[in-house]
Amino acid sequence: MFEHIPPFAGDPILSLNEDFQKDPRPHKINLSIGIYFDDAGRIPVMDSVRRAEAMVVAKGGPKPYLPIEGAANFRTAVQHLLFGAGHEAVTSGRVATIQSVGSSGGLKVGADFLATYFKGSQVWVSDPTWDNHRSMFEGAGLTVNTYPYYDAATGGLKFEAMLATLRGLPAKSIVLLHACCHNPTGVDLTRAQWEQLIPVLRDGQLIPYLDLAYQGFGDGIEQDAYAARALASAGVSFFIANSFSKSMSVYGERCGALSVVCPNAHEAALVLGQMKFTVRRNYSSPPIHGGQIVATVLTDPGLRQSWETELGAMRERILAMRTQLHAVLAAKVPGRDFGYFLTQRGMFSYTGMTTAQVDTLREVHGVYMVRSGRICVAGLNSGNVEATAVAMAAVLAG
Ligand code: LMR
Repeated sequence: MFEHIPPFAGDPILSLNEDFQKDPRPHKINLSIGIYFDDAGRIPVMDSVRRAEAMVVAKGGPKPYLPIEGAANFRTAVQHLLFGAGHEAVTSGRVATIQSVGSSGGLKVGADFLATYFKGSQVWVSDPTWDNHRSMFEGAGLTVNTYPYYDAATGGLKFEAMLATLRGLPAKSIVLLHACCHNPTGVDLTRAQWEQLIPVLRDGQLIPYLDLAYQGFGDGIEQDAYAARALASAGVSFFIANSFSKSMSVYGERCGALSVVCPNAHEAALVLGQMKFTVRRNYSSPPIHGGQIVATVLTDPGLRQSWETELGAMRERILAMRTQLHAVLAAKVPGRDFGYFLTQRGMFSYTGMTTAQVDTLREVHGVYMVRSGRICVAGLNSGNVEATAVAMAAVLAG
């Protein structure tokens, strides 16, 4: 019956993380998956989250089905986090938000919606992008293309080429953009570049689709929402999927949201209705527990303050690891510029290492990174950063 089913080729990130777990070498180092580990190499349970969970559990209420679109307090808190409570887009009711199963769930609901209601549209993703973006949009039946983004020569951005490509797209093309902390490169647009990009998106009648999975890991919670707020203020209609997996360290709770900023409240109601239909025929409604933890952290003033402080410390630790990695590599490999580790932002950096070098690092030194050369900087800690840099230097030296 199933002989014709092709074997799963594995996932470039999740399967690598599974291989790491099976590796018996005690000195192995995991820089593969986008998870924040603390300086002891553990996934932290944030104090704000622990306290919020205790409050949720203490309420001891029943566990009904949530509405298809998710819990109202969660959805409102998400809108306030993304845009600010006083933003005109929020107060005028022109944002349609659903609670989703991680931001991946939100991305997919949005992709299904676009495939249904924008049949002629194709998707444009950055070159490169998170591996799963292409799979998700193609899985929804959409054709996926790339626009220029990462400049391997400088470790920076091909901004002019990116703009030129986007200027040439047909109206209603879907443009996937990383709102901050670009995955996999760590290369972000500056505010000035967003200011140049937004008129191109608006005047070309393109449909931006923002992925905001790392809010707070770039320059700060508010700062990382800049693109979303600027697009909303510019009157652009767009999609934004956001995640709490990393920012609250609640990976397995699968907490995210999809918001669609619409021209007016009437259209937002139409969009919300069809997003609900998409959810209903996929998984019916989102889970209750994690979303209530997130909503409690976001809305309780004391917990909110603690969360912002804790997230700030995580961001600072990543920056410290960037500095240390850069210092050791610069000393050990003179003549090569590693400055991009200092300018790139968020959990990820592109090391510029080739696939063969990545394989050698893993096989010989037990250092796991994605075969594209992406490292999760948040996997570095004071106990392994030196060893990582030494191993990278050895492999780069051939
Ligand atoms: C990553 O990019 O490593 C994370 O977003 C985890 C994932 O699901 O791929």
